[in-house]
Parts: sequence; structure tokens; C-alpha cells
Amino acid sequence: MVAVVREAAGIPQILPRPMTESDVPAVLALEMSAYAFPWTEGIFRDCLRVGYYCCVLEIDYLLVGYGVISSGAGEAHLLNLCVREEFRCRGLGRRLLEHLLDLVSHSGARIVFLEVRPANTGAVRLYESMYFQQIGMRRGYYQAEGGREDALVMRRDLTV
Ligand SMILES: CC(C)(COP(=O)(O)OP(=O)(O)OC[C@H]1O[C@@H](n2cnc3c(N)ncnc32)[C@H](O)[C@@H]1OP(=O)(O)O)[C@@H](O)C(=O)NCCC(=O)NCCS
Repeated sequence: MVAVVREAAGIPQILPRPMTESDVPAVLALEMSAYAFPWTEGIFRDCLRVGYYCCVLEIDYLLVGYGVISSGAGEAHLLNLCVREEFRCRGLGRRLLEHLLDLVSHSGARIVFLEVRPANTGAVRLYESMYFQQIGMRRGYYQAEGGREDALVMRRDLTV
């Protein structure tokens, strides 16, 4: 499987496509496998309903990742980004994020914000490598085992 992924991940035409209602069951299954405190089905359906940019990435008809970003009044907010565990570290998270940033940039967003758990070093490095900078901390933002966990707030200016 890994050999197929390496080959497939390098093919430029594997691009994210818009998420649809029919993707939600597979997206939810991946969400539940990836997060200790996953989003619910209702949250994904609400994101689609209100018109957030939601996209999925598939390889050989298998859902390998997805992302969700909201945009309005010149600002965007990255709400979710996830890659199937066995497909990580092959550039797919970056590809999804680049795609989402392109979409919101074309819709007029000039600034993008996101929150991330400080312990999620892989995600933090991905965001730093894509020119996001830490601008603050939200205290007790996340659910965590036995309490709450702070979030790093990161920002990227899309105009530079
Ligand atoms: C965060 C996540 C989306 C990254 O996806 P990915 O496909 O593995 O990321 P990429 O392969 O595109 O990595 C891009 C860059 O991110 C950094 N990075 C990603 N994963 C990393 C890891 N485990 N350790 C260190 N750096 C990492 C590297 O800088 C990498 O660049 P490089 O390959 O040139 O070194 C993925 O790990 C994931 O789905 N995690 C679970 C869900 C999650 O935590 N989402 C983020 C919520 S804020």
C-alpha cells in the first residue's frame, strides 16, 4: 500500500475536489480515527450547508484527507485539516492546505487564522512551513483528557 501511495501522491492531477453530502460518512469515519475529540456528523453537514469551503482528497477512490475553511469579510479561518494516518508525511496535508488557501484567496480573503494544539508538532510545523505565524494563545480552547487544553492561534497574511 505504501508503494502505491508514494507513486500516487506524486501524480499532480490528484487534486482536492469539493466535499459533497455523500462524502460525509467517509469523512466522519476518518475524523473519528484521527481525533480524540472528533467533530460530529452534524458539524460537517452544517459546514456544507452554510457554504464553507470543504474539500476532500481521494486516491483510487479512497478518501485520504479533507479540509474545511470559512471565509468572509476579508478573513478566513481554517477549521479542519486531516490526512489518513497511513498517508501522512507525503505532502498531502500541504496540498490540501494550499488548495484551501487558493480558494479563499480568490474569494477575497487577505488574512487566515487557525487554532492548533501546541502538542500537535506535525501540524504546527506544517503551518509554520506555510508562513503561518503564532500570534497568541486561547486559554482552555480545546477539550482534553481530564480538562481543557490551550490553543496556539496562528495567522497568515495572504497579501505578501
Ligand atoms: C497535520 C496533518 C494534516 C499533516 O498532514 P501530512 O499530509 O502528514 O503533512 P505533509 O506531508 O503535507 O507535511 C508538510 C510539512 O508539515 C510538517 N510535518 C507534517 N507532519 C509532520 C510530523 N509528523 N513531524 C514533523 N513535521 C511534520 C513538515 O514540515 C512537512 O514538510 P516536509 O515534508 O517538507 O518535511 C496530519 O498529520 C493529520 O491529519 N493529523 C491529524 C489531524 C490533525 O491534527 N490536524 C490538524 C488540526 S490543527
